[in-house]
Amino acid sequence: MESDFWHERWQRGEIGFHQPHIHDQLQRFWPALGLGAGSSVFVPLSGKSRDMVWLAERGHKVIGVELSELAVAAFFEEAGIAPQRQQAGAPEVWSGGPYTIYCGDFFKFEADAVADVSAAYDRAALIALPPDMRPGYVTHLASILPRAAKVLLIALDYPEGEIAGPPFAVASDEVTRLCAPAFDIDILEARDGLAASENLRKRGVTRLVETAYLLRRRA
Ligand SMILES: C[S@@+](CC[C@H](N)C(=O)[O-])C[C@H]1O[C@@H](n2cnc3c(N)ncnc32)[C@H](O)[C@@H]1O
Repeated sequence: MESDFWHERWQRGEIGFHQPHIHDQLQRFWPALGLGAGSSVFVPLSGKSRDMVWLAERGHKVIGVELSELAVAAFFEEAGIAPQRQQAGAPEVWSGGPYTIYCGDFFKFEADAVADVSAAYDRAALIALPPDMRPGYVTHLASILPRAAKVLLIALDYPEGEIAGPPFAVASDEVTRLCAPAFDIDILEARDGLAASENLRKRGVTRLVETAYLLRRRA
């Protein structure tokens, strides 16, 4: 998925992936990560996700990375925060309140920016990427996260070929193949997600499994 694809999606307002509510698996499984209040959380491919607001309300500092300036601007506007913008080279950094969002390419994102994070939250990031980009995504994520950081990953699986992604179907055996070299993997829940996903039902998906994974870096 080239960056133009995402810029166009944001320009046209085609953001069916955006959820106005807080993801329930985030709310139910976040406590399992056992993070201290005040710790920082990384949200790759953040969009303007409201989940970042929920994380901030739990006392976390939130560090996002997002390609689209429209998305970053909308996030701060909807949060009621006037951000400061700093262009210290690329990417541009938008910050305000508990949020720091880097407006740029995740694949060029460097480890210093997330050196202090205790965890990462991936909802609709891995599954937004086509198969050939997923290994690079997981390798880069593992390479920039501190060793002790945990990851809450939420992925979708549906019958291959029912729709053209994104979102792409990423089954648990693929999550294992991609993540096992760097992470220990626990499945927290695999549940039917079709009833809650009107967008994907309308697009023709007939079966949907939504799985929450806890990833822990291997020592
Ligand atoms: C499917 S959306 C999910 C957004 C968010 N995680 C959510 O739950 O609403 C994927 C987002 O990733 C952004 N994106 C795609 N490729 C990216 C990249 N290489 N670096 C940073 N952001 C990227 C897109 O602009 C889009 O906002």
